[in-house]
Amino acid sequence: MVEDRQQLAIIVASTRQGRFGGVVAQWFLSQARQRDDMDLDLIDLAEVGLPAVLGQASPAVQAYIERIDRADAFVVVTPEYNHGYPASLKQAIDLPHGQWRAKPVGFVSYGGMAGGLRAVEQLRQVFPELQAMTVRDTVSFHMADARFDEAGEPREPIGCNAAAHQMLDQLAWWSAALRAARRAESARHRMGELALVEETVS
Ligand SMILES: Cc1cc2nc3c(=O)[nH]c(=O)nc-3n(C[C@H](O)[C@H](O)[C@H](O)COP(=O)(O)O)c2cc1C
Repeated sequence: MVEDRQQLAIIVASTRQGRFGGVVAQWFLSQARQRDDMDLDLIDLAEVGLPAVLGQASPAVQAYIERIDRADAFVVVTPEYNHGYPASLKQAIDLPHGQWRAKPVGFVSYGGMAGGLRAVEQLRQVFPELQAMTVRDTVSFHMADARFDEAGEPREPIGCNAAAHQMLDQLAWWSAALRAARRAESARHRMGELALVEETVS
């Protein structure tokens, strides 16, 4: 058991009725659970109850932002809709701000022929604006519903399981490195504030 565990939030982007995303998310969760260096928080956007209007404060919004704040790293499980990512995900990205900063993001995508990769490429343009960095490796399922059986298990698990662990390894590395950097920065700020207080009272 690793003592200084990373906090990984898995964000399920699809809120569509009858969605397939739950199957993909549950499979990924089962892979992530095999690690002993991460605590997991499944943030299912179909359940968190974010408002359609940006700027509307509510306990649900506050609780969601706190979950993003607590995370050290993220995996976004996203489908592709009309060559992009779902509106529900954009809303969830835009609500928090500083809480994404200096944290890594990985992707599990799914869809038709392109396996959701066009959605992922768009997200790679969005996250840097929040100073979050995206990791190179992704997991992608093209024709996703045919790739899982009735029990929600991948029909050919070897490749996708290996891809999931490779991405999780990358995330863990960046997550530890960036958390150390964030903590060092906070310590420097505290030292600076302390020096200012000492200067003021002396
Ligand atoms: C509105 C809509 C648009 C879609 N557009 C695309 C697309 O551009 N490319 C693609 O590969 N699949 C597309 N699909 C197929 C979805 O990626 C696929 O149905 C996926 O399962 C949707 O995720 P969900 O079921 O979790 O909502 C689209 C599906 C919907 C509902």
